[in-house]
Amino acid sequence: MEHAAVGGVARADGLLLETSNLVVRFGGMTALDGVNFTLPHTDLRAIIGPNGAGKTTLFNVITGAIKPTEGHVFFAGRDISGLPPHRISQLGLSRSFQLTNIFPELTVQENVWLGINARKRAPWHPFTSGKERAVVSEELGRLCTDMGLADKMDANAGSLSHGDQRLLEIAIALSLNPRLLLLDEPTQGVSPQEVEVINGVIRDIAKTRGVMLIEHNMATVLNVAHVVTVLHYGKIIAEGTPAEVIEDPRVQEVYLGTARVSAPGR
Ligand SMILES: Nc1ncnc2c1ncn2[C@@H]1O[C@H](COP(=O)(O)OP(=O)(O)O)[C@@H](O)[C@H]1O
Ligand SMILES: [Mg+2]
Repeated sequence: MEHAAVGGVARADGLLLETSNLVVRFGGMTALDGVNFTLPHTDLRAIIGPNGAGKTTLFNVITGAIKPTEGHVFFAGRDISGLPPHRISQLGLSRSFQLTNIFPELTVQENVWLGINARKRAPWHPFTSGKERAVVSEELGRLCTDMGLADKMDANAGSLSHGDQRLLEIAIALSLNPRLLLLDEPTQGVSPQEVEVINGVIRDIAKTRGVMLIEHNMATVLNVAHVVTVLHYGKIIAEGTPAEVIEDPRVQEVYLGTARVSAPGR
């Protein structure tokens, strides 16, 4: 079995992502309270839970935006706890950025091109070979086509609909060619038709890579996720298929504030 060690701690390379006893405190406030989470190499996982449950904090600590107070994060068997975000993204873990990371005055293809260029870490210059330019342009076209943005490649990003901007964010995250993609509320503020498009894109992406999404839209969770993890006050309180999780009394209590009435008239 393959092992890799960073920072002196090694794990078997049997999982794409694993956290062990992850704790994050902000002053006296505990945002993550001993999270033991595992993700196999291909999974489409939804992270759900009420506001303040710790979902975004979990993403922040996985992607290196914040350091864990205690515990470890392993990515493909390597301990990545405390590595800076750019190192973690180079290892193949990328996150959809919020709208502020799109350059609205640049075109769709310029935005995606910047992502590809960041991955290659060899800035384009006037003497870039024609072959290399053709490779990049092929990749650019494929990413835009996969996101349904092929006919909008020359449009300014700022002129796109909200849904198309979310798709552009996903294209930029994918331009880093990650093994694991993290999406924080990818359908937030998007029209119902666009939600369908985004759901389809997420399903396609998950055929070849791991995907974790934070999602409030229950229809998306039920239609898209293979497995759902429920966070509440920084702890995992339930995990299973979407059908299992919505039937779980602890989950119903968290969402409805009371056990669900199971039969009419009671
Ligand atoms: N940078 C921070 N500083 C202080 N408190 C924070 C910070 N980030 C998150 N929190 C707190 O941690 C808790 C979990 O937040 P968050 O992870 O954003 O929840 P969720 O994404 O599930 O809504 C909340 O109580 C929030 O106020
Ligand atoms: Mg959040």
